[in-house]
Amino acid sequence: MKFFIDTANLQQIAEAQAMGILDGVTTNPTLMAKEGISGADNIMNHYKAICHIVDGDVSAEVMAVDYEGMMREGEIYAALDPKIVVKVPMTADGVRAIASFSKMGIKTNCTLVFSAGQAILAAKAGATYVSPFIGRLDDISFDGMELIDQIVSIYNMQGYATQVLAASVRNPLHIVKCAEAGADVITCPLSAMTGLLHHPLTDKGLAQFIIDAAKMKG
Ligand code: E4P
Repeated sequence: MKFFIDTANLQQIAEAQAMGILDGVTTNPTLMAKEGISGADNIMNHYKAICHIVDGDVSAEVMAVDYEGMMREGEIYAALDPKIVVKVPMTADGVRAIASFSKMGIKTNCTLVFSAGQAILAAKAGATYVSPFIGRLDDISFDGMELIDQIVSIYNMQGYATQVLAASVRNPLHIVKCAEAGADVITCPLSAMTGLLHHPLTDKGLAQFIIDAAKMKG
């Protein structure tokens, strides 16, 4: 399972990259705005800076909501770097844009997916990735993990090539559950990734090893 970081913060991206476990980055307009990025030139430069840090795919989300606008924006993003994946919302125009990008050989990530039916449409359109949002479903008392299970099973049964990118992953348990479900990718904040590191018995064991190592040094 690949690990993508869900942020536009360059420092956190560099930190995750330095851990040696990062496979890519996802961004969205909310995450870009949070970093104070605005204006066409700054947006392009920021995506280029992200691509410079990471080795893997970098999702850049279109801001247009109409087909022509998505195509215009997506082509500009895709020309920035071969790592760029054009992120497109799950709408009728979005599905049409994904199908067109797919024919042009441009990688896509279909975002804001909340049902198996939407995931089937994304796969039919030829999306490279589909992003079902776990955390936002949990927020409204639906089981986000059930959706991941369902999509993974449908994609396997139908032989769809689209990769399941579990999004809105908020904590370490989500990551473990996604691995169990057979998701191809998770995207999450740095805190959820580093949360996987911790166990009280690891801390306790290490404290003892440090004490005993000191005795061995004499
Ligand atoms: C997905 O690509 C989105 O950027 C993201 O995972 C949404 O997460 P949130 O629901 O925590 O905002």
